[in-house]
Amino acid sequence: LRGLGRFWFGLEPQTQGRFTSTASAQKENTTAKAAKESKTFQAIQEERREQAERSVLISCPSKINEKKFLDYLSKHGTINKHFFYNSYGAYAVVEFSSRESIASLKESINIPAVEHEAAVPFKSRLLSFKWPGSQSSSHPMPKFKVQSPPSINEINQLLSEKDSIDEQLQCLTEALELTEENVSLRFLVCSLLRDITGAYFPECIIRPFGSTVNSFGKLGCDVDMILDLEGIYATSQKKGSGLSLEYQVKRGASERAVTQSILSVIGKCVDQFGPGCVGVQNILQARCPLVRFSHQPSGFQCDLTANNRVAMKSSELLFLYGQLDPRVRHLVFGVRCWARVHSITSSIPGAWITNFSLTVMVVFFLQQRNPPILPTLDRLKELAGPSDKCVIEGNDCTIVSDLSKITLQQNTDTLEKLLQEFFEFYGNFPFNKASINIRKGKEQTKPETTALYIQNPFETTLNISKNVNATQLERFVALCRESAWLLQQKEILNRSSDSPWGFAALLLPSVTSGAGVKSRRKRKLEPASSRIKNLLDSLKIKGGETVAKKGSA
Ligand code: GTP
Ligand code: MG
Repeated sequence: LRGLGRFWFGLEPQTQGRFTSTASAQKENTTAKAAKESKTFQAIQEERREQAERSVLISCPSKINEKKFLDYLSKHGTINKHFFYNSYGAYAVVEFSSRESIASLKESINIPAVEHEAAVPFKSRLLSFKWPGSQSSSHPMPKFKVQSPPSINEINQLLSEKDSIDEQLQCLTEALELTEENVSLRFLVCSLLRDITGAYFPECIIRPFGSTVNSFGKLGCDVDMILDLEGIYATSQKKGSGLSLEYQVKRGASERAVTQSILSVIGKCVDQFGPGCVGVQNILQARCPLVRFSHQPSGFQCDLTANNRVAMKSSELLFLYGQLDPRVRHLVFGVRCWARVHSITSSIPGAWITNFSLTVMVVFFLQQRNPPILPTLDRLKELAGPSDKCVIEGNDCTIVSDLSKITLQQNTDTLEKLLQEFFEFYGNFPFNKASINIRKGKEQTKPETTALYIQNPFETTLNISKNVNATQLERFVALCRESAWLLQQKEILNRSSDSPWGFAALLLPSVTSGAGVKSRRKRKLEPASSRIKNLLDSLKIKGGETVAKKGSA
């Protein structure tokens, strides 16, 4: 966390807008740091997990006297970092430099006596800071760190201030990506949950995976968690004498049945003992059984799974790809934002393309460039060292962990070019016969007739986009074609002050009607969108053939 002191201690000058250029320049994200320090994925996760274990989450008055608050807590030990944020009330995340401080703090805390009710006496690290009497407001207010993404209007405003599509995509990434504080809060919520599950399985770890750690997370995305029980199987027994002891255990019919039974108990505990955990749902019949709940103090929706190591490896793989070239993250953030605005992706599960599939599609596209921007998964396996060897349930999930072993070819494509060609590539991809395969970095013959076939990177007989139906794929293809065409129009690329241009123009409601593309957003058509509509109308007459001729979905 080098260089973040200023950030954590809230000493930077108050900025007026949340995304002024100074603010974004000051922001140093996880990915940039990792690249600089070239730590492995595992090392970064371990460091963050350990920091979270030394941290507490405290609800506090919004007009808090920061200095007095810190002085009070410092009685228990040195505070490494802290920050404040708002989520239906003010909260502080406080990281001590040692775990003993947490023990000392806990000893000094009472369980409150509640009138007309009774309390579950569970001593968690979610605390409330009480301040006797009214506070004077003469002291400076702490700076509250934003934890939610900018609105579409704020995004449009930001994009309009940039001078090129490349700058727009970089700025979009900076505005949407998880902040340092947000990632810390995510790890802290996992660690707080571990305090509950640790009562049953003291060696367990709750690890975040998915977009919290894969470097493509957007502020506001869910926290995917794994209850990792691997540590329990580690044994210190020495073989030799022939004598041994073993634990008597309860058995289930299958791994899945055991996972379901563990998660059902954990779900109940989270519901009944977990402070701040509300709306707990046990979704145990899903392909990947999970417990879903909201963690109110952080505002996160959490999905807790178990026995899901392959998903963690997929997160590492995406992280690694995100590290190799900055254009990867900029393009993924752009494509994900574009897809969300046009309802290609959705927060509700269904027949839509998921963010995970979209990211794999971007990776595949970047492997197709000439020269390629990203290496194949097979190449990442070849470069792996002996300690990288990883086999999960019979699937070889080995990938290199040391990024410095990967040499990349010189490719100087601009983001504008990549965006344009991404849309052309998928606007013309032979989805009817080919599958997307990032292991080989080549399209393959589709093994089955599902609309979209994207080979699961590690469980190679599975399709990660099996859920996508033909209608959703057609919508995606039609929008790709429309966006590719829009980017060819000079007018779209002309920076003008009064209407969205460049990438922002691609976020306007789609006007392609024949292909079944409808925008759910009923946004008022602005001058720019009527301009685009006219351009598209002319496309139907003049250029329609060009688009229609190329490939088929
Ligand atoms: P968000 O939409 O920002 O939450 O992106 P995400 O990457 O976190 O996706 P999601 O929460 O849907 O899933 C979490 C992780 O589970 C993904 O990053 C993948 O590693 C894994 N995952 C999701 N969907 C699939 C799938 O269909 N197949 C496989 N094998 N893994 C999946
Ligand atoms: Mg997720």
